[in-house]
Amino acid sequence: MSRTALVTGGTRGIGKAISIRFRDQGYKVAANYGGNDDAARAFTEETGIMAVKFDVADYDAVGEGLAAITADLGPIDVVVNNAGVTRDAPFHRMTLEQWQQVIDIDLTSAFNVTRQVWDSMRERGFGRIVNISSINGQKGQFGQANYSAAKAGLIGFTKALAQEGAKKGITVNVVAPGYIDTEMVRAVPENVLEGIIATIPVGRLGKAEEIASMCTYLAGEEAGFITGATMTVNGAQYIAG
Ligand code: CAA
Repeated sequence: MSRTALVTGGTRGIGKAISIRFRDQGYKVAANYGGNDDAARAFTEETGIMAVKFDVADYDAVGEGLAAITADLGPIDVVVNNAGVTRDAPFHRMTLEQWQQVIDIDLTSAFNVTRQVWDSMRERGFGRIVNISSINGQKGQFGQANYSAAKAGLIGFTKALAQEGAKKGITVNVVAPGYIDTEMVRAVPENVLEGIIATIPVGRLGKAEEIASMCTYLAGEEAGFITGATMTVNGAQYIAG
């Protein structure tokens, strides 16, 4: 019986590659998205994967979205909490709105989704949660006090939940990408991005597929003893202890 995977922010960027990789491995996949209907339509046409629109920052909207997915595909076995945005600004110019949006969409979203699949995973004795953090949650980044806080928060969230899920067959892990070739990274001013690439020992941006393969690995049966871990995929730009 094939398992069901939900990828939040799953129609574009890293999330799109993750959705496709799960599909290719035989999962039933639901790709959530927040706002870009055109991209979602194109994604479904291209991949055949169901795209489900709901705001991951809204607990009740998440509940409705999860109910629709479960009705179509069955109980959710794997969640990849990938949805995220940046609102970069040096802290002396950062607004409360920029702070709050990033905390809500990048961190509280993981609570909203995970909390509402957790009881079912506990009952069924199996679950895989993969939280997509960032190199910038590990090392901090100038201009990203909000994003670094949210992405570091996901790591603490993961470490706590890994302990709670352990006896119920649920693993909870972090994948911490470095700078990956996506629209989000391409939005960084070109001169700034050139400077960043110069600090990546592998000498290039990562590929979304390089994150996707880590996610499917962590979701697999053979990864059952890996839980509470942070897997860095960053071309040696930052080597966490
Ligand atoms: N370290 C130290 N100082 C820095 C700095 C850095 N990394 N970046 C900028 N500064 C300094 C500049 O030198 C400048 O100093 P002076 O005023 O003394 O000349 C000052 O900060 C202002 O710099 P900018 O002119 O660039 O200011 P800005 O307001 O136009 O932009 C910024 C500031 C938004 C932070 C911009 O520098 C920026 O976008 N930086 C990139 C942030 C980044 O890496 N974001 C990652 C996005 S991708 C992502 O998040 C995915 C992921 O998970 C990896």
